[in-house]
Amino acid sequence: MKLQGKVAIITGAGRNIGEDTAKLFSKEGASIAVVDLDKARGEKVVADIVAAGGKAKAFVCDVGKEDDIIKCVKDVVAAFGRLDILVNNAAISDNKTMFDITTEEWNRVLAITLTSPFLFSKHAALAMIAAGNGGKIVNVSSTSGYFGRDRATAYTAAKGGVVNLTKSLAIQLAPHKIRVNAVVPNKIGSPVGKDEFDPTRPVLNLVGRPGVPEDLARAALFLVSDDSEFIVGTALFVDGGCTTLMPGNA
Ligand SMILES: NC(=O)c1ccc[n+]([C@@H]2O[C@H](COP(=O)([O-])OP(=O)(O)OC[C@H]3O[C@@H](n4cnc5c(N)ncnc54)[C@H](O)[C@@H]3O)[C@@H](O)[C@H]2O)c1
Repeated sequence: MKLQGKVAIITGAGRNIGEDTAKLFSKEGASIAVVDLDKARGEKVVADIVAAGGKAKAFVCDVGKEDDIIKCVKDVVAAFGRLDILVNNAAISDNKTMFDITTEEWNRVLAITLTSPFLFSKHAALAMIAAGNGGKIVNVSSTSGYFGRDRATAYTAAKGGVVNLTKSLAIQLAPHKIRVNAVVPNKIGSPVGKDEFDPTRPVLNLVGRPGVPEDLARAALFLVSDDSEFIVGTALFVDGGCTTLMPGNA
């Protein structure tokens, strides 16, 4: 087991990518803090993990609010006695053009999708530094952080920010033996903010199938395990090779 004795916070762990990441980390021996705004979703994932013999606890937290984040980190350390891993997975999208999106909507998308990885990393890192055991942080970006889109104006801006935030955090936390990396998914499971998997969702990649949440979970596991000891500040594409195809000539 790769994460025996470790404690991991996974934000947005109530479904899809976060859910499968929580379940895979648990299989690898970690105790899981299932963090989600939706209480019922979080509790269902915890029940599944516990039924499978793992250790998990649900924490209701709005990652768009710093007070919630501070409380959540404290509660996790109090519940499990330590904190080793943080996966900043929660995000929302806007699906709006620059003319449709209101300033309020823009601010909410940025708060949850970009500011939250900053603040959660900051408060988790403070706990990790105080404990002196090092740690691992994985930020979930998106291929939407590398390309423009005709909508999702705030989401694309936020996800681009996540990539460079990851590099600054990696530099600043390296002296504390906290490794920070990002993963870059494309079309994994259901679209962000949706429950249903649409098998007709168009997919153009080199693998020839849509991604499933476990594809991303396995990449995140690699980045939080000792297998990736020499990998710091990188952005690992988990996109079936879709960004390898030259735009316009695919
Ligand atoms: N699904 C994809 O195809 C895809 C593609 C590229 C990137 N991503 C990224 O992967 C990550 C996970 O995506 P997903 O599709 O699994 O998302 P999802 O919408 O299926 O699940 C997100 C979870 O986060 C929770 N959440 C939302 N707002 C929250 C808040 N303010 N505080 C706490 N929890 C909150 C939701 O309740 C939900 O359980 C996101 O960062 C997303 O941008 C996903």
